[in-house]
Amino acid sequence: MEFTAGNKEFEALNMQLNDLEKLEKYKMLYDGYRTNILPRFIGGLLVRLGNIMYGHEPSYLKFRSIEITARVPYCSWSSAVYTLLTFFYFDERKAIKLSSIARYAGIAHDNETMHLIVISHLARAEKRAGRIRHALLPIFFSIFYFCAIYILFLVRPRWSFELNYLFEQDAFNQYSRFLDLHDEDLKNKLIESKFLEWYGRNPKNQYDFFRSVRNDEIIHRNQSIQNIDTEADGRRVRFLKFITACVVAAAFGIGAYIFLW
Ligand SMILES: [Fe+2]
Ligand SMILES: [Fe+2]
Repeated sequence: MEFTAGNKEFEALNMQLNDLEKLEKYKMLYDGYRTNILPRFIGGLLVRLGNIMYGHEPSYLKFRSIEITARVPYCSWSSAVYTLLTFFYFDERKAIKLSSIARYAGIAHDNETMHLIVISHLARAEKRAGRIRHALLPIFFSIFYFCAIYILFLVRPRWSFELNYLFEQDAFNQYSRFLDLHDEDLKNKLIESKFLEWYGRNPKNQYDFFRSVRNDEIIHRNQSIQNIDTEADGRRVRFLKFITACVVAAAFGIGAYIFLW
């Protein structure tokens, strides 16, 4: 039994997106999606900090830093699903939805891991990485991102998916720009990676590889929105309103008691 290669459905969709017409059609499904203000704020902050630290233009080392952080939401969703299933194992419908998210998160996590390993291998051949800027700082970003995605998933899953939508949109833009800027150069650069072979991709050159990564990022972006379960989100909002009302009532009761006493 083969547990290790990339997911077949995912790989088939990735190949289809090499066709620019199909890519545009697929991208348009969620272009201009309006996110809530909180994910927009956190996503904007991460993207701006990334641009300040690694420059506005794409580069091997910037991609390496992006990919360290890009794996995190998938690990965070798996952990959050694990937490929720510890409490809600009696609800079969909910368990199926949560397990589907965990299954997708596993596939996307393996895919992002492949990006990170292959790109860090390519980056090493191009330029020397700084220990603080390119290794330590992305770890801090990742810890922050892990907590933000985990908490948002427990409190309001929609916001957690919307935050990843913004992050993946930026990754897609960066890889698209990189391909536009360096297409000829990348077509002349060969790529050799044992990990990539093991994963099941065999690009002819670096252009093919980065094009497949660009396609991965738009799949991640769209899938983030497709994962939103409106019904479950509504239930979570009602539960949060109930908890808020209880806290306010308790605070009011305690305040009144102290004042009258
Ligand atoms: Fe990635
Ligand atoms: Fe991604």
